[in-house]
Amino acid sequence: MKILVTGGLGFIGSHTVVELVNAGYDPIIVDDLSNSNIKILDQLTKIIGYTPAFYELDLCDEQAVKEFAANETDVKGIIHFAASKAVGESVKLPLKYYRNNFFSLVNVLNAYEGKSINFVFSSSCTIYGQPDKLPVTEDAPVKPAQSPYGNTKQVAEEILKDVIASGSNNKIISLRYFNPVGAHESALIGELPLGIPQNLVPFITQTAIGKREKLMVWGGNYNTPDGSCIRDYIHVVDLARAHVAALKLMEKSTFKGIDFFNIGTGKGSSVLEVIRAFENTTGVKLNYEIAAPREGDIEQVWGDVTKSAEKLNWKARLDLSTMMSSAWDWENYITQNPL
Ligand SMILES: NC(=O)c1ccc[n+]([C@@H]2O[C@H](COP(=O)([O-])OP(=O)(O)OC[C@H]3O[C@@H](n4cnc5c(N)ncnc54)[C@H](O)[C@@H]3O)[C@@H](O)[C@H]2O)c1
Repeated sequence: MKILVTGGLGFIGSHTVVELVNAGYDPIIVDDLSNSNIKILDQLTKIIGYTPAFYELDLCDEQAVKEFAANETDVKGIIHFAASKAVGESVKLPLKYYRNNFFSLVNVLNAYEGKSINFVFSSSCTIYGQPDKLPVTEDAPVKPAQSPYGNTKQVAEEILKDVIASGSNNKIISLRYFNPVGAHESALIGELPLGIPQNLVPFITQTAIGKREKLMVWGGNYNTPDGSCIRDYIHVVDLARAHVAALKLMEKSTFKGIDFFNIGTGKGSSVLEVIRAFENTTGVKLNYEIAAPREGDIEQVWGDVTKSAEKLNWKARLDLSTMMSSAWDWENYITQNPL
């Protein structure tokens, strides 16, 4: 079964391509390489044993997307990862985010409208802001977005609801990811941050290997047991498998319309706990400093994953130690074998 994977050379997309192949699907990758490297295609070839179909295409180009869809008519599912994702950059360049994240979504939906597509959307726990109750459930109120990036995820979910309400024969699942980390066990693919990493785990591994002098822990006086922020870290391979689970659910005739799922472990870990887990797993000591909190950071969030377990038949399996060891193996690989 052909599955279009937009943004399929990116961090989560590349891991999902591997899990799609493992599950017997035939992924077709579309990526404009704006935040990825063409050599990831060779890395995927090494893992899955063949080169998956790849189109270099900017999904904001409406005509090009229409032509693609006219050629690839037997696509049965779409996993839409393609988006710009740096929260800080989105505050400085809101129009870049509104353009890329909305145009690409609308163009893809438009090109395949009326084709009974099973559509998976990459959403984020960022839509919950600082939840009133933890763990946060899917029916928690959506809080005003903290950034243009967060706003694109909230509005995209509204767009998807409107598409279903209009009577579209598509089925849609929006997966609200918590904090994806780690890398494939082969260490051939992983997260490739451009410049200074904005996320904790690449910052940890880059500090450990000597690319950064010191790890900054943003805030040590939060109202949490050790004063640092708490997040629900999820192994990217578990997250990738959730996309396969979403496709399987939509293939059932009983699934109709649109649904939303939290994709996390259901457990929060503080920044200091993650640092300790990294040190214990790898035996590498980290040079870190507790600094002033970053503006806009949420104090603590982790997901209730009961609905995903029950309806999606999916659960995270890999623990924090595996997240750290795989991220460390990837950092070592990519340092010795730059793409
Ligand atoms: N990584 C996270 O922490 C996280 C958390 C929640 C949600 N998400 C969402 O998951 C999705 C994937 O995230 P990721 O971490 O893999 O990001 P990524 O940047 O590694 O992957 C996105 C891919 O999409 C491609 N792309 C971007 N715009 C495109 C366009 N117009 N046309 C074609 N390709 C385009 C990029 O080149 C890149 O390969 C994004 O939608 C992101 O917002 C990510």
